[in-house]
Amino acid sequence: MTNASPHNTKRTGHWVNLAKLPHHRQEHGTVPIDDNTIALIGGVFRLGDGDVQEGLLTTDVVEVYDIPSDTWKTKAPTPYKVNHPNVATVNGKIYLLGGLVDAQDPPLPYPDWIPSGECHVYDTVKDVWSPLEPMEKGTERGSAILGVHGEMIYVAGGMTFLIPDDQDSLTTVTAFNTTSGKWQKLPDIASNIPEGRQHGVGAVVGHNFYVVGGRYMKKQNVRGTVFILDLNNQQAGWKISEGEMPVPRGGLSGAVLGKKFYTFGGEANPNATDGIFNETEVFDITTEKWSQKKAMAVPRHGLSAVAIGNKVYLPGGGLQEDGLSVWVDGKEHLLRTTDHFDAYVV
Ligand SMILES: *[C@@H]1O[C@H](CO)[C@@H](O)[C@H](O)[C@H]1NC(C)=O
Ligand SMILES: *[C@@H]1O[C@H](CO)[C@@H](O)[C@H](O)[C@H]1NC(C)=O
Ligand SMILES: *[C@@H]1O[C@H](CO)[C@@H](O)[C@H](O)[C@H]1NC(C)=O
Repeated sequence: MTNASPHNTKRTGHWVNLAKLPHHRQEHGTVPIDDNTIALIGGVFRLGDGDVQEGLLTTDVVEVYDIPSDTWKTKAPTPYKVNHPNVATVNGKIYLLGGLVDAQDPPLPYPDWIPSGECHVYDTVKDVWSPLEPMEKGTERGSAILGVHGEMIYVAGGMTFLIPDDQDSLTTVTAFNTTSGKWQKLPDIASNIPEGRQHGVGAVVGHNFYVVGGRYMKKQNVRGTVFILDLNNQQAGWKISEGEMPVPRGGLSGAVLGKKFYTFGGEANPNATDGIFNETEVFDITTEKWSQKKAMAVPRHGLSAVAIGNKVYLPGGGLQEDGLSVWVDGKEHLLRTTDHFDAYVV
C-alpha cells in the first residue's frame, strides 16, 4: 500500500539567515523591484524599546534590500502610513493600491484600523511616489490577495476593519489597469471569490490567478482552499481546486517559483503555545497537489514573501500570535514583531 499522506514526503529545502531588517516590522507588503532588489512597503513597527513590546505603529517607511551585498537602504516614504497594503510590481514600478490605516489620530497602540482607497505608484529609478486613481467607493480594502497578469493587477478579497476581537472578510474582486491608470470591473461571474478571504496569498501562473489559504472573518477561521480563475476565460468564473492545504492557515506568506506555490507559517494555531504555524507547504500548480517541506526555522506570521532565483525571501513578521499571552524567559508578551530575515532555499 502506498501512503499518499503529505506528512510522509521527503522534507527538502533549507533556511539561510540574512541581514536583519533596519526595523522590526510586520503586516507589510514585500515586492521585487528587479532580480537583485526587494522592497518593504507599509506595515507596523514595534512600539517601545524595552524587552516587552508596548504596541504597534503603522509606518510609511520604505526599505529596500540588495541581494548581492546583503544590505538595506531607506527610500522615499509612502504618501500615507499604511498596514496590510495591497502591493504589486509591474514593469519595475511598485503599485500601492489601498490598505488599512489608523482609525484615530493620534493612533492607538493596538489594531484599530479602517480601509483606505488611496493608490500610488513608485518610480524605483527616480525614488518618487505619484498618485493614481483611488479604489472605487465601497471597494476600499486591505489584506487583499494580488496577482499580476501583463498590465493588469487583480485584487481579490480583503478586509475593511481590524480591531483586537473582530475583523471582516470580502469576496470582492477588482482589477487595476496599469496602462490606463483606471480600475476595471470583472464580468459579474468572476467579480466575487467563492468565500470571503483576507490574510491569504496568491499569484498568477500562466493565465490562472490562484488565491490560496487565508481567513474567513475571524482569525481562528483559517482556510486551506485554492480558488482559481482563468484570466483569459473569466466568464468561466472561479473554480475551487480539489487540492486543499494539508494544514489550513491564515496570516501565512507565500510565493511562486516555477510551477510551485510555496507557503509558509501563519497565525492562530491552537496547538502551539505561541499560536504560530511552522509549516512549509507547497502546491504543485500542474498536479494541484500539496506536499510538506522542511518547517520554518523561525516560525512567523504577518509577513509577505518574494521568490527570486532559487530562494523565497521572508523579511520580518510576528514571532507569536498577536494579543495572545506568551511567556518567554519569565516575561509576558502580547506582541513580538521581529527584525529577523531569512530565505528558504529550494
Ligand atoms: C488596459 O487599458 C488599455 C488602455 O485603455 C486598453 O487598451 C487595454 O485593453 C486594457 N487592458 C485590459 C486587460 O482590459
Ligand atoms: C491540532 O491537533 C489536533 C490533534 O493532533 C489535530 O486534530 C488538529 O488538526 C490540529 N489543529 C491544527 C489547526 O493544526
Ligand atoms: C512545528 O510545530 C509543531 C506544533 O505546532 C511541533 O509539534 C513541531 O515539532 C514543529 N516542528 C518543527 C520542525 O519545529
